[in-house]
Amino acid sequence: MSKVRPGKSHSVFVCKGCGNEQSKWSGQCPACGEWNSLTEAPTAKPSTEKSPRRLTDFSSNVMRLAEVRAESAVRRLTGLGEFDRILGGGVWPGSMVLLGGAPGIGKSTLMLQAADRLAAPDHPVLYVSGEESPSQIKGRADRLGVKNDRLLLASETDLLEVLRLVEEHQPKTLVLDSIQTAHKPDLPGMPGSVGQIRECAAELLHLAKGKGITVFVLGHVTKDGELAGPRVLEHIVDTVLYFETEDRNVYRILRAVKNRFGPTNEIGVFEMTSRGLMEVTNPSELFLGDRGGATPPGAAVAAVMEGTRPILVEVQALVARTAFGMPRRQVSGVDYNRAMILIAVLDKRCGVPLDSQDVYVNAAGGLRVEEPAADLAVAAAMAGAAADKSLPPLTLWVGEVGLSGELRSVGQLSERLAEAAKLGFKTAVTPKSGLKGLQAPPGLKVISVATLAEALKTAGLAED
Ligand SMILES: Nc1ncnc2c1ncn2[C@@H]1O[C@H](COP(=O)(O)OP(=O)(O)O)[C@@H](O)[C@H]1O
Ligand SMILES: [Mg+2]
Repeated sequence: MSKVRPGKSHSVFVCKGCGNEQSKWSGQCPACGEWNSLTEAPTAKPSTEKSPRRLTDFSSNVMRLAEVRAESAVRRLTGLGEFDRILGGGVWPGSMVLLGGAPGIGKSTLMLQAADRLAAPDHPVLYVSGEESPSQIKGRADRLGVKNDRLLLASETDLLEVLRLVEEHQPKTLVLDSIQTAHKPDLPGMPGSVGQIRECAAELLHLAKGKGITVFVLGHVTKDGELAGPRVLEHIVDTVLYFETEDRNVYRILRAVKNRFGPTNEIGVFEMTSRGLMEVTNPSELFLGDRGGATPPGAAVAAVMEGTRPILVEVQALVARTAFGMPRRQVSGVDYNRAMILIAVLDKRCGVPLDSQDVYVNAAGGLRVEEPAADLAVAAAMAGAAADKSLPPLTLWVGEVGLSGELRSVGQLSERLAEAAKLGFKTAVTPKSGLKGLQAPPGLKVISVATLAEALKTAGLAED
């Protein structure tokens, strides 16, 4: 007997295993490989019908630009400085923010801390969890020292019910933990499926824009960094924040990858403790490694811009004779291709032969150093490692290295130098070009050079 599947245009087939949706039935789910797992589910409305208006639709009449009043909303500060900074100076009312990160990284913790600080008599906050019961959330709240009677908790996965709760309690901020557990019962697909996530997010966006409620949506990211389910969420929301960490590290980096109401590529650094996430207000100290005592050979400090903020990072290199034929090159936290170019430039232009040496490069503390401005520090670390010689202590190395070994100017040099001076650095080696009008911060001696070879000579590392 052959299985005859009705091919009605308004049906979809949903995999019971993974929630994959497709328009045709097949014996095996192409997404997860499960057999006989696809079942037919009607869509909410046949596709021929006019698409339904949302429960919370928003639209406007056409107006002349001059007639439109600019939004002069007042941002609300959470008081978690790093979080506020990343959002662009506090929470923009009526914005929708996605907070993504791997399970266990601290999304619920951060949001509960932020919700606590936002909640006030004139600003009730509703925290809806589809993952934990109110008593579980209370357990966490007790641990974090959160007690705020303007913070309302609910456990709910049905989005329509969430919208009803919003209607009933009129919060100014809604937190939904997480988008993967929310679902609209009138739609096919399991919670977490592409269709469900998209629809729920669109509904929440309309809530945010229509009623001016700030909506925070939490979302899980898989191991390889993709938001489980669709990336489509990133397009819908105003702001996308990702929480990242290195393995077994207590430090968490919160990064704004999209922001309609603030700068992007801004990072905030937190430390996970039993009392919740604590701000690390001076991340340079963290990424500099342990600077007690002498500088080890093969370590150089770079200044990279993360958003609007300069951060000092220690780059470490190790150079060892190749045992068998092909030299190994292993880099972590530094751009691989740039490191390969720097090896070639060191070899050709500075007399630092690395062709029969294994080279390992690492950026301390788990920050990714991909800016060309870090070239000089990476090259200096490698040259120091090759000569087994320590670079001068408390020295910053800033500059982009060109293929002919010239040093090129970098943007925001004064911010980088100011950060180094603040941390007690004594010397900065910088490109000669682009220094016009630059005032060295007090206490910092700036040595400006034209080429990588000259820069290395200041540390006694290159031939004349
Ligand atoms: N008692 C505790 N002491 C210290 N850290 C804790 C404690 N309980 C939980 N954590 C930390 O909180 C993390 C879970 O945070 P959570 O906000 O639930 O993550 P997410 O919501 O991203 O899955 C754990 O991985 C752990 O690092
Ligand atoms: Mg959670």
